[in-house]
Amino acid sequence: MAEQTTVTGNVPANAQADNSYENDSSYGDELSSYSSSLTSSVFDYRHENGRRYHKYRDGSYLLPNDESENDRLDMFHELCLQLLDHQLYLAPIQNPQRVIDLGTGTGIWAIDFADEHPDAEVIGCDLSPIQPTLVPPNLKFFVDDIESEWAEENNPFDFIHARYLTGSIRDFERLIEQCYRSVKPGGWVEFQDWDVYPNSPDGSVDGTWFRQYYDEVSGAFEEAGYDVRPGIKLEQWFKDAGFVNIHVEKFIVPHGVWPKDKHLKKLGAWNQAQGEASGFESVALAILTRYKKWTKEEVLVLAAKARADGRKSEIHPMFDFYVVYGQRPEN
Ligand SMILES: C[S@@+](CC[C@H](N)C(=O)[O-])C[C@H]1O[C@@H](n2cnc3c(N)ncnc32)[C@H](O)[C@@H]1O
Repeated sequence: MAEQTTVTGNVPANAQADNSYENDSSYGDELSSYSSSLTSSVFDYRHENGRRYHKYRDGSYLLPNDESENDRLDMFHELCLQLLDHQLYLAPIQNPQRVIDLGTGTGIWAIDFADEHPDAEVIGCDLSPIQPTLVPPNLKFFVDDIESEWAEENNPFDFIHARYLTGSIRDFERLIEQCYRSVKPGGWVEFQDWDVYPNSPDGSVDGTWFRQYYDEVSGAFEEAGYDVRPGIKLEQWFKDAGFVNIHVEKFIVPHGVWPKDKHLKKLGAWNQAQGEASGFESVALAILTRYKKWTKEEVLVLAAKARADGRKSEIHPMFDFYVVYGQRPEN
């Protein structure tokens, strides 16, 4: 992992050299003490309520990064492949040379993309160093905070991709403006994201624990300053940032196997599977215990009730998921 994962940093505009090291043999010792504390802060984890969380920029992302969460993210990847007919992205990119995946998670999208585009240099960036080490040679993972100012602007990207950052980002508009500055003229940016609000064609989700769960959890995320309904706002944010040729696709993703339509049924099954793979607990635990002072047991009870409702054939929840891409003008 250590070889694969790099920490990027921001160089302050007024950075000046400390000249006191000239002819000083302690320079190497000091350097290694900085790099080992930096490395340990990146590789360290926070353990809480039986789950593991990132430590670098501790507390800024509220979902765990342990095995069961990573399994859930890989199931979510399969859900997206089913949703987009096995396409990793919808933007009309051609021969991309430099590509970045923001908030790459387990890196599964970036790995598939790098395999599909062996001539592209692909970067996956995340707060957590949870990505595998055996990856395509044209892929590198970095640990960094994508909400910090990027140091990449001198070396712009052909394609910037971000998926499922709902509940992660405090300032999507700023992030999308940063993408605009960091993509080449003529290059593309694509965000794929949820509108985390369950609805149902027949109102059957109203008054259920399923709805109660999302009201509690999404409300707490919003109070804490995170956007949980970015999907529906992406188009406007792309326009505001200056993108052109913006394309928006909205998809329905059911929860459960209740739809008659075979394709929707399959999507519903994958969505339920990722929710049941500890998803209900993963999403709710830190936000409700840290910000709303719930006990772990109270969260687990709410999650269990929502999960049970999600299995009932008479309750028909579904969510909207958006894919939005846009191009930076050539000039
Ligand atoms: C819900 S997961 C989605 C992972 C991946 N994009 C996918 O679609 O499978 C969100 C990811 O964003 C990362 N993340 C959240 N805030 C971040 C930030 N400020 N900088 C970098 N990564 C961040 C989290 O660590 C997590 O891996």
